[in-house]
Amino acid sequence: TTHKVGYFIGSLAAGSINRKLANALVRLVPPELAMSEITFKDLPLYSYDYDADYPPVARSFKAAITAVDAVLFVTPEYNRSIPGGLKNAIDWASRPYGTNAFTRKPSAVIGTSPGAIGTAVAQQSLRSVLSFCNSPQMNAPEAYIQFTPGLITDDGEVTNDSTAEFLRNFMAEFHTFIARVRSVLPKDA
Ligand code: FNR
Repeated sequence: TTHKVGYFIGSLAAGSINRKLANALVRLVPPELAMSEITFKDLPLYSYDYDADYPPVARSFKAAITAVDAVLFVTPEYNRSIPGGLKNAIDWASRPYGTNAFTRKPSAVIGTSPGAIGTAVAQQSLRSVLSFCNSPQMNAPEAYIQFTPGLITDDGEVTNDSTAEFLRNFMAEFHTFIARVRSVLPKDA
């Protein structure tokens, strides 16, 4: 079976190193995973005033999440947390109350930073948010990628063999995790 994975890139920057990482992951996935990006840059800042009548941009954003079997977050660390734009997107997806798009949706988290801790603190923060959103998370392997110049080309070629192998294994493990979670979910979930 093929599983559809929607990936979020936490950075909105044109030269984002996390976008390069996402491009690399797309190239290294096992054939059973069909990858598509879920974008969120056009969402307004969320307020529950919108709950009574979600704007079209938010409806299609939520529909994109509903349409996939799992979600992958590829995110930078900004000020020891996730970027505000990504948190805003998650807030949109979680509402109106009772229609949280992440509930029972398997997820994984990965990120890269020039710094040595490789987004570890942001990932812990994101994991708390995803827990509250009732997303079953792949706990291991963890992936804290320190970005050195040239590690990944713009179109996602990984220039270091051991990093490429690590990322390939991460996505293979995510595939196993998705298959396991989906095998125990009720059919209508
Ligand atoms: C950063 N950066 C950063 N790095 C880190 O390891 N921990 C942090 O807390 C922060 N904080 C932070 C805040 C803000 C506002 C910016 C703009 C940057 C550096 C960051 O890792 C670097 O800019 C990466 O290039 C961000 O990833 P993208 O956006 O290029 O994918």
